[in-house]
Amino acid sequence: MILVLNGPNLGRLGVREPDVYGAETFEDLATLCRDTGRKLGEHVEVRQTDDEAELIGWIHEACDGRIPVVLNPAAFTHYSYALRDAIAQRTAPLVEVHISNPAAREGFRHTSVVAGVATGTIAGFGLQSYVLALHAIAEMKTTS
Ligand code: DQA
Repeated sequence: MILVLNGPNLGRLGVREPDVYGAETFEDLATLCRDTGRKLGEHVEVRQTDDEAELIGWIHEACDGRIPVVLNPAAFTHYSYALRDAIAQRTAPLVEVHISNPAAREGFRHTSVVAGVATGTIAGFGLQSYVLALHAIAEMKTTS
């Protein structure tokens, strides 16, 4: 089982700044992640919330259940120390993903307060960032 967790505004994929985030919807993303999981022999559960407390609760669930996570923290990436502190308790790999490349955008996006407690970060490959992250987690499972 792998959890794919998404933060604020990602439920609006498809209508939200399509020049930056593409034309595919959140449902398209969820289907892509589940299909990738099926190919990798992993059950993938995809969730999205605009609520910081709910997202932190899901991270706690992953920590307690030793569940690997693919996380797009969205704007929380840049300022949520509470989310960072939750991720610091992780007991399984957690890959930070971004659809866009925050390093190539506005200055406030250049800081990730979660990167230092993630296993690693994949950014800038559109929805393929999630596919790459799922492959990375599946690979870590077979080699660890
Ligand atoms: C994002 C990048 C963040 O800077 C932004 O706040 C998002 C989406 C991405 O996937 O490219 O909401 O995480």
